[in-house]
Amino acid sequence: MTQVACGIDIGGSGVKGALVDLGTGEFIGERVRIETPQPSTPEAVAQVCRAIIDRLGVGPDVPVGITFPAPIVRGTVVFMANLDKSWEGVNVDELMTRVLGRPSHALNDADAAGLAEVAYGAAKDVPGTTIVTTLGTGIGSAVIVDGTLVPNTELGHLEIDGHDAESRASTHCKEILDLSWKKWAKRLQRYYSHVEMLFSPDLFVVGGGVSRKHEKFLPLLDLRTPIVPARLLNTAGIVGAAYEAARTAR
Ligand code: BGC
Repeated sequence: MTQVACGIDIGGSGVKGALVDLGTGEFIGERVRIETPQPSTPEAVAQVCRAIIDRLGVGPDVPVGITFPAPIVRGTVVFMANLDKSWEGVNVDELMTRVLGRPSHALNDADAAGLAEVAYGAAKDVPGTTIVTTLGTGIGSAVIVDGTLVPNTELGHLEIDGHDAESRASTHCKEILDLSWKKWAKRLQRYYSHVEMLFSPDLFVVGGGVSRKHEKFLPLLDLRTPIVPARLLNTAGIVGAAYEAARTAR
């Protein structure tokens, strides 16, 4: 596998990119961030990715991986919850390969974070089933069985008590409703115990920006399954995208 790849992480508020050393899972040089254009249409976001590649000076032979907050099946966006709906049905691999002028590979953002945690972080060498969740604007999920990802699991959209789970338990929800840690933890408890009942996992890994404050809410959860914070925090999406791009470019 090549030693350096570029990862780009597309989110609702920012598009971030960096070169990644695949030996260590660490960034090489700076991370570039550009606000997500509004409306976040495919062409506008692709141009931002192009600007990031140019700013980073990514060479033509360096594989590029791109994360999306949506399920991606063979390059195509299945549905879009938190970016412009015009993404639905778009083949991101084709779009980005054209605009970036090099082979590019897209995958779901939580799947990328999950792969990064398996390769370099909290899920490394963990046997059995690990579920990585990312708590942010939505809830993303990556299900990994003995190191192999089951892609596009979308467990943030489980219907629990008649609600789309992420609309009750995401970080965004905590923020807009100004929920205390305790109140939010109650919602997380409902969420994780449901996922636990469905999958009987061996480990939960909790990512997303809020995992930096894990000591405020993880100790409030009562689960059979060990639950730990992600180790890569906000680098996981970029690192996982770069890792997967290098793997598929082989
Ligand atoms: C999307 C997922 C994504 C998650 C986190 C959800 O709304 O449907 O694909 O992984 O948000 O961004």
